[in-house]
Amino acid sequence: MLRVVCPGSFDPVTNGHLDIIGRAAGLYDEVTVAVLINVTKHSLFTVDERVEMLREVTSSYGNVRIDRFHGLLVDFCAANGITAVIKGLRAVSDFEYEMQMAQMNYRMAKVETLFMTTNPLYSFLSSSLVKEIATYGGDVSGLVPEAVLARLRDRLAEQLPGYGPGPAAVKLGLPPVAGRLGARFCIAAIHEYTVMPNTRTNAPRGALVFDMRSLSRQAGSARALHLTVPAPEDLRLELAGVPVGASVELDLRFEAVAEGILVTGSATAPLAGECARCLAPLASTVAVSLTELYLYDQHDKHERHEEHEEQGDERYLDGDLLDLEPAFRDAVVLALPMSPLCRDDCPGLCVECGVPLADAGPGHRHEAAPDPRWAALRQFDDQATRQPGRRAGAIDLQEG
Ligand code: PNS
Repeated sequence: MLRVVCPGSFDPVTNGHLDIIGRAAGLYDEVTVAVLINVTKHSLFTVDERVEMLREVTSSYGNVRIDRFHGLLVDFCAANGITAVIKGLRAVSDFEYEMQMAQMNYRMAKVETLFMTTNPLYSFLSSSLVKEIATYGGDVSGLVPEAVLARLRDRLAEQLPGYGPGPAAVKLGLPPVAGRLGARFCIAAIHEYTVMPNTRTNAPRGALVFDMRSLSRQAGSARALHLTVPAPEDLRLELAGVPVGASVELDLRFEAVAEGILVTGSATAPLAGECARCLAPLASTVAVSLTELYLYDQHDKHERHEEHEEQGDERYLDGDLLDLEPAFRDAVVLALPMSPLCRDDCPGLCVECGVPLADAGPGHRHEAAPDPRWAALRQFDDQATRQPGRRAGAIDLQEG
């Protein structure tokens, strides 16, 4: 009996894995899909769950069995009478590491490795990319089997409060150009923001930190995003600001240029606070446009900073991460009004009784001052109203 093992983490199984498993099942009498038990690696699904999903999605193959292993793959092979490993190769970048493992496995136990070229439709696909896209609210249908899709949504909903792919979530699926290796395509994703955990530490990242791995460094590659993120702290001046956690609408475009990534776009956020004249709550928005270049080069960052000490105007990518928060904060705080008004011609408050004059109307007067201090103030007011162009009872707070 010709046996082969298809090992991996399968966290979770993708359509790319399934393609290799199915094709191997056509070549061998028995294919064992072996899930690596790796306690040191953080995974989204438990080994049991991964095994269950694999069983479900390979149930139509009579000669595929699912198992798990820890330790060396060659030991698992020896224990199961398997002499060959089958692996899918997606791109040249896979080759070096796979070659090393294949040669080592052969050296250790004469276990052969066979490489099967991945269907080009899946050459860009990996479990980690699927998790990342799904975490952002992108639609990964077409990239994983239906059964996995449902579990993925459930798991992310458990782990990320407020998670849910937006109704207008982009359908990544398989774009028509995906069959052409190396083809570039622009993704216009429309989704609600969900906190994307750091894939290494699993700590939540800021809402304005974007992972640029999905954007090729080839100049001209671009990615457009429309998303809603919670406002960070400290976006306020004395009388007005953007409340922490309020929904900020972002329209962003990330474009790879020779020296880095150029971010252009706009942001709109609700403005809360008090009208400087009548103290009524504000109900308006602040809108800003953004144009920022994030440089790739970190090596001479220190020297550059010294050179540009005066300006301090350079922003850098942190590996693949682009932190838009400082630029966003600068733009919003500069756009906040020092003396916000509920409307341009707000008449303010009545100096005698304190009612908003906009509600009381221009005929609002007091025959007898309710308080001697108001009477004194009223004299000033009367003088002021005798000046042409001044409205009765209004205090111009702009002039003090
Ligand atoms: O899906 P993955 O995470 O890329 O799979 C990697 C896997 C499981 C195939 C590989 O890490 C493996 O074979 N691990 C078992 C440990 C082992 O045998 N290491 C020595 C390799 S030469």
